[in-house]
Amino acid sequence: MKRLHIALVYNAFTDGTPDHPEDRSGTADLRQMIRRIGRALRSLGHTVTVLALSHDLFAFQRRLRRLRPDVVFNQYDDVVHGALYEMRLAALVRMMGFPMTGSPALALGLSRYKYMSASLLAGAGIPIPPNTALLETVRAVDQHKWEFPIIVQASQEHAGIGLDRHSIVHSKKQLRDKVRDILRKFGQPALAQRFLPGREFNVGLVGGSKLRVMPLAEVNYADLPPEIPPIMSYDAKWVETSVEYQKTSVICPAQVEPGLARLIGETAIRAFRAVGGWGYGRVDVRLDEQGTPRVLDVNCNPCLDEGIGLARSAEKAGIPFPQLLQLIVKAALERQPYDADVPMLLPLVSQSQAAAHPAGNGNGHGHAKNLAAVSAGATN
Ligand SMILES: Nc1ncnc2c1ncn2[C@@H]1O[C@H](COP(=O)(O)OP(=O)(O)O)[C@@H](O)[C@H]1O
Ligand SMILES: [Mg+2]
Repeated sequence: MKRLHIALVYNAFTDGTPDHPEDRSGTADLRQMIRRIGRALRSLGHTVTVLALSHDLFAFQRRLRRLRPDVVFNQYDDVVHGALYEMRLAALVRMMGFPMTGSPALALGLSRYKYMSASLLAGAGIPIPPNTALLETVRAVDQHKWEFPIIVQASQEHAGIGLDRHSIVHSKKQLRDKVRDILRKFGQPALAQRFLPGREFNVGLVGGSKLRVMPLAEVNYADLPPEIPPIMSYDAKWVETSVEYQKTSVICPAQVEPGLARLIGETAIRAFRAVGGWGYGRVDVRLDEQGTPRVLDVNCNPCLDEGIGLARSAEKAGIPFPQLLQLIVKAALERQPYDADVPMLLPLVSQSQAAAHPAGNGNGHGHAKNLAAVSAGATN
Protein backbone atom coordinates (compact mmCIF):
# COMPACT_ATOMS: atom_id res chain seq x y z
CA MET A 1 0.00 0.00 0.00
CA LYS A 2 1.25 3.51 -0.70
CA ARG A 3 2.15 5.80 2.16
CA LEU A 4 -0.88 7.65 3.40
CA HIS A 5 -1.63 10.66 5.51
CA ILE A 6 -3.84 9.36 8.29
CA ALA A 7 -5.82 11.48 10.73
CA LEU A 8 -6.16 9.47 13.93
CA VAL A 9 -9.26 10.79 15.69
CA TYR A 10 -10.17 10.11 19.29
CA ASN A 11 -12.50 11.48 21.93
CA ALA A 12 -10.63 13.59 24.46
CA PHE A 13 -13.76 14.70 26.29
CA THR A 14 -14.06 13.50 29.86
CA ASP A 15 -16.83 14.23 32.30
CA GLY A 16 -14.32 15.76 34.69
CA THR A 17 -14.36 12.98 37.26
CA PRO A 18 -10.84 11.79 38.03
CA ASP A 19 -9.75 8.36 36.80
CA HIS A 20 -9.36 5.51 39.25
CA PRO A 21 -5.91 4.08 38.62
CA GLU A 22 -7.18 0.48 38.91
CA ASP A 23 -9.85 1.13 36.26
CA ARG A 24 -8.40 0.44 32.84
CA SER A 25 -11.17 2.28 30.98
CA GLY A 26 -9.84 5.73 31.96
CA THR A 27 -8.35 8.59 29.98
CA ALA A 28 -4.71 7.67 30.65
CA ASP A 29 -5.21 4.21 29.15
CA LEU A 30 -7.06 5.70 26.19
CA ARG A 31 -4.17 8.07 25.45
CA GLN A 32 -1.69 5.22 25.66
CA MET A 33 -3.78 3.19 23.25
CA ILE A 34 -3.91 6.07 20.78
CA ARG A 35 -0.12 6.39 21.03
CA ARG A 36 0.27 2.67 20.34
CA ILE A 37 -2.04 2.87 17.32
CA GLY A 38 -0.18 5.94 16.02
CA ARG A 39 3.16 4.23 16.43
CA ALA A 40 1.98 1.09 14.65
CA LEU A 41 0.56 3.10 11.73
CA ARG A 42 3.83 5.06 11.44
CA SER A 43 5.80 1.79 11.44
CA LEU A 44 3.93 1.00 8.21
CA GLY A 45 5.33 4.15 6.63
CA HIS A 46 2.22 6.30 7.01
CA THR A 47 2.17 9.87 8.28
CA VAL A 48 -0.13 10.17 11.26
CA THR A 49 -1.73 13.30 12.71
CA VAL A 50 -3.54 12.73 15.97
CA LEU A 51 -6.73 14.78 16.26
CA ALA A 52 -8.30 14.97 19.69
CA LEU A 53 -11.94 16.01 19.65
CA SER A 54 -13.26 17.16 22.98
CA HIS A 55 -16.20 19.55 22.67
CA ASP A 56 -15.70 21.90 19.73
CA LEU A 57 -16.91 20.00 16.70
CA PHE A 58 -16.56 23.03 14.43
CA ALA A 59 -12.92 23.59 15.35
CA PHE A 60 -12.37 19.91 14.72
CA GLN A 61 -14.04 20.18 11.35
CA ARG A 62 -11.82 23.13 10.39
CA ARG A 63 -8.67 21.23 11.37
CA LEU A 64 -9.73 18.19 9.42
CA ARG A 65 -10.50 20.32 6.39
CA ARG A 66 -7.07 21.94 6.50
CA LEU A 67 -5.40 18.58 6.98
CA ARG A 68 -7.15 16.83 4.08
CA PRO A 69 -5.99 13.36 5.13
CA ASP A 70 -6.18 10.35 2.82
CA VAL A 71 -8.14 8.51 5.46
CA VAL A 72 -9.57 9.15 8.92
CA PHE A 73 -8.74 6.44 11.43
CA ASN A 74 -11.79 6.59 13.66
CA GLN A 75 -11.14 5.91 17.33
CA TYR A 76 -13.92 8.19 18.53
CA ASP A 77 -15.64 6.35 21.33
CA ASP A 78 -18.15 8.16 23.50
CA VAL A 79 -19.08 6.68 26.83
CA VAL A 80 -19.76 10.09 28.35
CA HIS A 81 -22.59 11.40 26.17
CA GLY A 82 -23.92 8.06 25.04
CA ALA A 83 -25.02 6.16 22.02
CA LEU A 84 -25.78 8.90 19.52
CA TYR A 85 -22.50 10.75 19.58
CA GLU A 86 -20.33 8.14 17.92
CA MET A 87 -22.54 8.07 14.87
CA ARG A 88 -22.56 11.86 14.60
CA LEU A 89 -18.79 12.04 14.31
CA ALA A 90 -18.74 9.22 11.76
CA ALA A 91 -21.43 10.97 9.71
CA LEU A 92 -19.52 14.25 9.81
CA VAL A 93 -16.33 12.66 8.52
CA ARG A 94 -18.13 10.95 5.65
CA MET A 95 -20.08 14.10 4.84
CA MET A 96 -16.74 15.83 4.40
CA GLY A 97 -15.86 13.16 1.87
CA PHE A 98 -12.98 11.46 3.69
CA PRO A 99 -12.69 7.68 3.77
CA MET A 100 -13.01 6.46 7.34
CA THR A 101 -11.98 3.24 9.05
CA GLY A 102 -14.53 0.94 10.59
CA SER A 103 -18.27 1.07 10.47
CA PRO A 104 -20.48 3.82 9.08
CA ALA A 105 -22.68 6.05 11.22
CA LEU A 106 -25.75 3.89 10.74
CA ALA A 107 -24.06 0.73 11.99
CA LEU A 108 -22.47 2.55 14.94
CA GLY A 109 -25.82 3.95 15.98
CA LEU A 110 -27.70 0.71 15.48
CA SER A 111 -25.24 -1.45 17.35
CA ARG A 112 -25.24 0.93 20.31
CA TYR A 113 -29.02 0.62 20.56
CA LYS A 114 -29.01 -2.95 21.76
CA TYR A 115 -32.72 -3.54 21.38
CA MET A 116 -32.75 -2.22 17.84
CA SER A 117 -29.88 -4.40 16.75
CA ALA A 118 -31.36 -7.43 18.53
CA SER A 119 -34.70 -6.84 16.78
CA LEU A 120 -32.92 -6.49 13.46
CA LEU A 121 -30.99 -9.72 14.00
CA ALA A 122 -34.15 -11.58 15.02
CA GLY A 123 -35.87 -10.26 11.90
CA ALA A 124 -32.99 -11.51 9.78
CA GLY A 125 -33.33 -14.96 11.32
CA ILE A 126 -30.15 -14.74 13.38
CA PRO A 127 -30.55 -16.36 16.82
CA ILE A 128 -30.64 -13.97 19.79
CA PRO A 129 -31.44 -14.80 23.44
CA PRO A 130 -35.13 -15.59 24.08
CA ASN A 131 -37.29 -13.19 26.10
CA THR A 132 -35.55 -10.12 24.66
CA ALA A 133 -37.54 -7.04 25.68
CA LEU A 134 -37.13 -3.31 26.02
CA LEU A 135 -38.53 -1.97 29.28
CA GLU A 136 -39.25 1.75 29.33
CA THR A 137 -41.18 1.71 32.59
CA VAL A 138 -41.23 -0.51 35.65
CA ARG A 139 -44.85 -1.41 34.89
CA ALA A 140 -43.87 -2.77 31.47
CA VAL A 141 -42.45 -5.78 33.32
CA ASP A 142 -46.02 -7.08 33.67
CA GLN A 143 -46.62 -7.05 29.93
CA HIS A 144 -44.31 -9.99 29.32
CA LYS A 145 -44.03 -13.62 30.27
CA TRP A 146 -40.65 -14.25 31.82
CA GLU A 147 -38.60 -17.38 32.14
CA PHE A 148 -35.95 -16.71 34.73
CA PRO A 149 -33.05 -16.18 35.10
CA ILE A 150 -33.13 -12.89 33.21
CA ILE A 151 -30.19 -10.56 32.64
CA VAL A 152 -30.99 -6.83 32.72
CA GLN A 153 -28.78 -4.04 31.43
CA ALA A 154 -28.92 -0.45 30.22
CA SER A 155 -30.09 -0.61 26.61
CA GLN A 156 -27.74 2.01 25.17
CA GLU A 157 -24.43 1.42 26.86
CA HIS A 158 -21.47 -0.73 26.05
CA ALA A 159 -18.16 -1.77 27.63
CA GLY A 160 -19.96 -3.56 30.44
CA ILE A 161 -21.29 -0.29 31.86
CA GLY A 162 -24.07 -0.99 34.35
CA LEU A 163 -23.42 -4.74 34.46
CA ASP A 164 -22.55 -6.12 37.87
CA ARG A 165 -23.15 -9.03 40.23
CA HIS A 166 -26.81 -8.10 40.53
CA SER A 167 -27.62 -7.91 36.83
CA ILE A 168 -29.09 -11.39 36.76
CA VAL A 169 -32.52 -11.58 38.36
CA HIS A 170 -34.65 -14.55 39.39
CA SER A 171 -38.07 -13.07 40.07
CA LYS A 172 -40.43 -10.37 38.83
CA LYS A 173 -39.79 -8.38 41.97
CA GLN A 174 -36.02 -8.40 41.39
CA LEU A 175 -36.60 -7.55 37.73
CA ARG A 176 -38.76 -4.55 38.63
CA ASP A 177 -36.15 -3.29 41.10
CA LYS A 178 -33.39 -3.63 38.53
CA VAL A 179 -35.40 -1.86 35.82
CA ARG A 180 -36.16 0.99 38.23
CA ASP A 181 -32.46 1.21 39.00
CA ILE A 182 -31.46 1.46 35.35
CA LEU A 183 -34.13 4.00 34.46
CA ARG A 184 -33.01 6.18 37.32
CA LYS A 185 -29.28 5.79 36.98
CA PHE A 186 -28.89 5.85 33.21
CA GLY A 187 -32.00 7.74 32.10
CA GLN A 188 -32.61 5.12 29.41
CA PRO A 189 -34.72 2.00 28.96
CA ALA A 190 -33.55 -1.36 30.25
CA LEU A 191 -32.88 -4.35 28.04
CA ALA A 192 -33.94 -7.69 29.48
CA GLN A 193 -33.09 -11.11 28.03
CA ARG A 194 -33.03 -14.71 29.12
CA PHE A 195 -29.68 -15.34 30.76
CA LEU A 196 -27.80 -17.98 28.76
CA PRO A 197 -25.30 -19.74 31.02
CA GLY A 198 -23.54 -21.56 28.14
CA ARG A 199 -20.05 -21.04 26.70
CA GLU A 200 -19.27 -17.48 25.64
CA PHE A 201 -17.18 -16.53 22.62
CA ASN A 202 -15.81 -13.30 21.21
CA VAL A 203 -15.59 -13.49 17.45
CA GLY A 204 -13.15 -11.09 15.81
CA LEU A 205 -13.87 -10.05 12.23
CA VAL A 206 -11.54 -8.19 9.88
CA GLY A 207 -11.96 -7.00 6.31
CA GLY A 208 -14.18 -5.26 3.83
CA SER A 209 -16.07 -7.25 1.20
CA LYS A 210 -13.85 -10.22 2.14
CA LEU A 211 -14.55 -10.53 5.84
CA ARG A 212 -12.27 -12.91 7.74
CA VAL A 213 -13.11 -14.61 11.02
CA MET A 214 -10.21 -14.50 13.48
CA PRO A 215 -9.48 -17.43 15.82
CA LEU A 216 -12.27 -17.63 18.40
CA ALA A 217 -11.71 -16.39 21.94
CA GLU A 218 -13.61 -18.03 24.79
CA VAL A 219 -14.33 -16.35 28.09
CA ASN A 220 -13.25 -18.62 30.93
CA TYR A 221 -15.42 -18.19 34.05
CA ALA A 222 -14.36 -21.49 35.66
CA ASP A 223 -12.28 -19.83 38.39
CA LEU A 224 -15.00 -17.41 39.58
CA PRO A 225 -16.39 -18.00 43.09
CA PRO A 226 -19.98 -19.31 42.89
CA GLU A 227 -21.58 -16.09 44.22
CA ILE A 228 -20.34 -14.13 41.21
CA PRO A 229 -22.33 -14.69 38.01
CA PRO A 230 -20.40 -15.65 34.88
CA ILE A 231 -20.74 -12.47 32.85
CA MET A 232 -18.43 -9.85 31.39
CA SER A 233 -19.46 -7.19 33.89
CA TYR A 234 -17.85 -3.75 34.12
CA ASP A 235 -15.50 -5.00 36.84
CA ALA A 236 -14.55 -8.11 34.86
CA LYS A 237 -13.67 -5.94 31.89
CA TRP A 238 -11.88 -3.03 33.51
CA VAL A 239 -11.26 -3.06 37.25
CA GLU A 240 -7.92 -4.77 37.87
CA THR A 241 -8.36 -5.05 41.61
CA SER A 242 -11.73 -6.84 41.45
CA VAL A 243 -12.29 -10.58 41.88
CA GLU A 244 -14.27 -10.48 38.64
CA TYR A 245 -11.23 -9.17 36.72
CA GLN A 246 -8.75 -11.47 38.39
CA LYS A 247 -10.81 -14.64 38.03
CA THR A 248 -12.10 -14.13 34.51
CA SER A 249 -9.73 -14.98 31.69
CA VAL A 250 -9.85 -15.40 27.94
CA ILE A 251 -8.69 -18.49 26.11
CA CYS A 252 -7.55 -17.72 22.60
CA PRO A 253 -7.63 -19.66 20.40
CA ALA A 254 -10.60 -21.42 21.99
CA GLN A 255 -10.89 -25.21 21.95
CA VAL A 256 -13.97 -25.72 19.79
CA GLU A 257 -14.83 -28.58 17.48
CA PRO A 258 -14.63 -27.45 13.85
CA GLY A 259 -18.36 -27.72 13.05
CA LEU A 260 -19.35 -25.53 15.96
CA ALA A 261 -16.50 -23.09 15.27
CA ARG A 262 -17.72 -22.70 11.70
CA LEU A 263 -21.30 -22.11 12.84
CA ILE A 264 -20.17 -19.49 15.38
CA GLY A 265 -18.09 -17.72 12.73
CA GLU A 266 -20.94 -17.72 10.21
CA THR A 267 -23.41 -16.45 12.80
CA ALA A 268 -21.03 -13.60 13.70
CA ILE A 269 -20.56 -12.60 10.06
CA ARG A 270 -24.31 -12.60 9.43
CA ALA A 271 -24.86 -10.44 12.51
CA PHE A 272 -22.12 -7.95 11.57
CA ARG A 273 -23.44 -7.67 8.03
CA ALA A 274 -27.02 -7.31 9.24
CA VAL A 275 -26.23 -4.15 11.21
CA GLY A 276 -24.15 -2.79 8.32
CA GLY A 277 -20.74 -3.18 9.96
CA TRP A 278 -17.55 -2.75 7.95
CA GLY A 279 -13.79 -3.13 8.30
CA TYR A 280 -13.48 -4.77 11.70
CA GLY A 281 -15.79 -5.96 14.42
CA ARG A 282 -16.24 -8.25 17.36
CA VAL A 283 -19.40 -10.21 17.91
CA ASP A 284 -20.16 -11.64 21.36
CA VAL A 285 -21.95 -14.96 21.22
CA ARG A 286 -23.21 -17.39 23.82
CA LEU A 287 -24.45 -20.97 23.43
CA ASP A 288 -27.98 -21.87 24.54
CA GLU A 289 -29.02 -25.17 26.14
CA GLN A 290 -29.13 -26.83 22.71
CA GLY A 291 -25.64 -25.61 21.88
CA THR A 292 -26.90 -23.07 19.33
CA PRO A 293 -24.84 -19.87 19.21
CA ARG A 294 -26.96 -16.82 19.97
CA VAL A 295 -25.75 -13.28 19.40
CA LEU A 296 -25.49 -11.08 22.50
CA ASP A 297 -23.72 -8.07 21.13
CA VAL A 298 -22.45 -6.77 17.80
CA ASN A 299 -19.51 -4.44 18.39
CA CYS A 300 -18.82 -2.12 15.50
CA ASN A 301 -15.45 -0.40 15.98
CA PRO A 302 -14.53 -2.62 18.95
CA CYS A 303 -11.55 -1.80 21.13
CA LEU A 304 -8.35 -1.90 19.08
CA ASP A 305 -5.79 -1.99 21.82
CA GLU A 306 -2.74 -4.12 21.27
CA GLY A 307 -2.66 -7.60 22.81
CA ILE A 308 -6.33 -7.85 23.83
CA GLY A 309 -9.68 -8.52 22.18
CA LEU A 310 -9.64 -8.36 18.41
CA ALA A 311 -5.91 -7.63 18.22
CA ARG A 312 -5.10 -10.73 20.27
CA SER A 313 -7.26 -12.93 18.02
CA ALA A 314 -5.62 -11.42 14.94
CA GLU A 315 -2.18 -12.18 16.35
CA LYS A 316 -3.20 -15.82 16.72
CA ALA A 317 -4.07 -15.76 13.02
CA GLY A 318 -0.52 -14.54 12.31
CA ILE A 319 -1.56 -10.91 11.83
CA PRO A 320 0.66 -8.64 13.96
CA PHE A 321 -0.84 -5.40 15.29
CA PRO A 322 0.47 -3.05 12.54
CA GLN A 323 -0.79 -5.45 9.86
CA LEU A 324 -4.20 -5.54 11.51
CA LEU A 325 -4.35 -1.75 11.31
CA GLN A 326 -3.23 -1.93 7.68
CA LEU A 327 -6.10 -4.31 6.85
CA ILE A 328 -8.50 -1.92 8.55
CA VAL A 329 -7.16 1.01 6.51
CA LYS A 330 -7.42 -1.10 3.35
CA ALA A 331 -11.07 -1.85 4.08
CA ALA A 332 -11.67 1.88 4.57
CA LEU A 333 -10.20 2.64 1.15
CA GLU A 334 -12.15 -0.21 -0.41
CA ARG A 335 -15.38 1.50 0.74
CA GLN A 336 -18.61 -0.13 1.64
CA PRO A 337 -20.88 -0.82 -1.32
CA TYR A 338 -23.30 2.07 -2.01
CA ASP A 339 -21.31 4.40 0.24
CA ALA A 340 -20.82 7.32 -2.11
CA ASP A 341 -18.63 10.32 -1.40
CA VAL A 342 -20.90 13.29 -1.04
CA PRO A 343 -18.46 16.07 -1.78
CA MET A 344 -19.75 18.71 0.62
CA LEU A 345 -16.14 19.73 1.05
CA LEU A 346 -15.64 20.67 -2.57
CA PRO A 347 -17.33 24.06 -2.72
CA LEU A 348 -15.01 25.19 0.07
CA VAL A 349 -11.80 24.67 -1.92
CA SER A 350 -10.83 26.01 -5.31
CA GLN A 351 -11.63 23.78 -8.27
CA SER A 352 -7.96 23.38 -9.23
CA GLN A 353 -7.07 22.34 -5.69
CA ALA A 354 -9.96 19.94 -5.69
CA ALA A 355 -8.79 18.37 -8.94
CA ALA A 356 -5.23 18.02 -7.64
CA HIS A 357 -6.21 16.64 -4.22
CA PRO A 358 -9.64 15.16 -4.28
CA ALA A 359 -10.76 14.55 -0.75
CA GLY A 360 -10.71 10.85 -0.17
CA ASN A 361 -8.39 8.15 -1.38
CA GLY A 362 -7.14 9.95 -4.40
CA ASN A 363 -9.87 8.54 -6.57
CA GLY A 364 -11.58 11.57 -8.02
CA HIS A 365 -14.12 9.60 -10.03
CA GLY A 366 -16.48 9.26 -7.12
CA HIS A 367 -16.63 13.01 -6.78
CA ALA A 368 -17.20 13.76 -10.42
CA LYS A 369 -19.93 11.14 -10.58
CA ASN A 370 -21.59 12.40 -7.43
CA LEU A 371 -21.40 16.01 -8.41
CA ALA A 372 -23.17 15.06 -11.60
CA ALA A 373 -25.75 13.16 -9.59
CA VAL A 374 -26.23 16.11 -7.23
CA SER A 375 -26.72 18.63 -10.00
CA ALA A 376 -28.96 16.27 -11.95
CA GLY A 377 -31.02 15.91 -8.78
CA ALA A 378 -31.26 19.67 -8.44
CA THR A 379 -32.71 20.19 -11.89
CA ASN A 380 -35.28 17.41 -11.62
N1 LIG B 1 -28.60 -12.89 27.35
C1 LIG B 1 -27.42 -13.09 27.95
N2 LIG B 1 -27.11 -14.30 28.47
C2 LIG B 1 -25.93 -14.52 29.08
N3 LIG B 1 -25.01 -13.58 29.28
C3 LIG B 1 -25.26 -12.35 28.80
C4 LIG B 1 -26.45 -12.03 28.10
N4 LIG B 1 -26.42 -10.73 27.77
C5 LIG B 1 -25.24 -10.26 28.22
N5 LIG B 1 -24.53 -11.23 28.84
C6 LIG B 1 -23.23 -11.10 29.51
O1 LIG B 1 -22.95 -9.74 29.74
C7 LIG B 1 -21.79 -9.34 28.99
C8 LIG B 1 -21.97 -7.95 28.44
O2 LIG B 1 -23.13 -7.89 27.66
P1 LIG B 1 -23.13 -7.22 26.24
O3 LIG B 1 -24.51 -7.27 25.72
O4 LIG B 1 -22.07 -7.86 25.41
O5 LIG B 1 -22.81 -5.72 26.61
P2 LIG B 1 -21.54 -4.81 26.44
O6 LIG B 1 -21.88 -3.94 25.29
O7 LIG B 1 -21.43 -4.08 27.70
O8 LIG B 1 -20.36 -5.69 26.13
C9 LIG B 1 -21.63 -10.41 27.92
O9 LIG B 1 -20.30 -10.50 27.50
C10 LIG B 1 -22.12 -11.64 28.66
O10 LIG B 1 -21.12 -12.13 29.52
MG1 LIG C 1 -20.19 -7.19 24.73
